[in-house]
Amino acid sequence: MTERRRLAILLSGRGSNFEAIADAVAAGRIPNAEIAAVVSDVAQAPGLARARERGLPAHAVDRKAFPGRAAREAGILAILDRARPDLVCLAGYMRLLSPEFVGRFRGRILNIHPALLPKFPGLDAQRRALEAGEKESGCTVHFVDEGTDTGPIVLQKKVPVLPGDTEETLSARILEREHEAYPEAIARVLDEIAPTAR
Ligand code: GRF
Repeated sequence: MTERRRLAILLSGRGSNFEAIADAVAAGRIPNAEIAAVVSDVAQAPGLARARERGLPAHAVDRKAFPGRAAREAGILAILDRARPDLVCLAGYMRLLSPEFVGRFRGRILNIHPALLPKFPGLDAQRRALEAGEKESGCTVHFVDEGTDTGPIVLQKKVPVLPGDTEETLSARILEREHEAYPEAIARVLDEIAPTAR
C-alpha cells in the first residue's frame, strides 16, 4: 500500500477551513491523506482547540513565546521538519511568511483567499469587493509565493453579490464555497506533486 500523503495546516483563528479539510480527509474526499500537524501562531486559536478535539497533532508557536518572525518561523519549521508534509495549507494563517520559508516549500504550500484574485488581495477582501460595487465575488486557492496573495491559482469558486449584502452576509456566502474549494484544490494538487522524500 502506498504511504498516505501528509498535510500540515497553519492557522491563526477560527479554523473552519481546517475543519472542512479534516472532514474531507476523514470522508476520503482527499484520498489517501492524513493531517500530520496543525500549527497555530495563536495559542488560543479556536482552530487549534478543534484540532485537539479531533485527536490531531496540534502545536502552538505562540507570538509571546516566539517573538518576531524569525523565531516564529524557526519554531514552525522545527515542527514541519518532524511532520514531513507533502503539502502545507495556510488556512487563515494571518502572517506574511518570509521568502526563506516560502522557498523551503515552493510548489508545496497553498493558501485560500476570500476574493477572486488577482482582485482584492490582502485584508478585508470581502468589504473591499462590496465597496467596489462588484456583482460577483468568491474565493481562490493558490500556491504561495513571496507576494501577498499573488501565487499561481489552483482554482476559484464564484458567488453572486446580492442587493443588501453586508460584509457579514457576503463573507458567509463565500465561506461556504471556501469549504468546498480547499479540499478540492488539495486533492488536485496532491495528485500532481511527487511525494516528499521521507
Ligand atoms: C477565510 O476567509 C480565508 O479565506 C482567509 O481567512 C479566513 C479563515 O477562516 N484566508 P477560518 O479560520 O478558516 O474559519
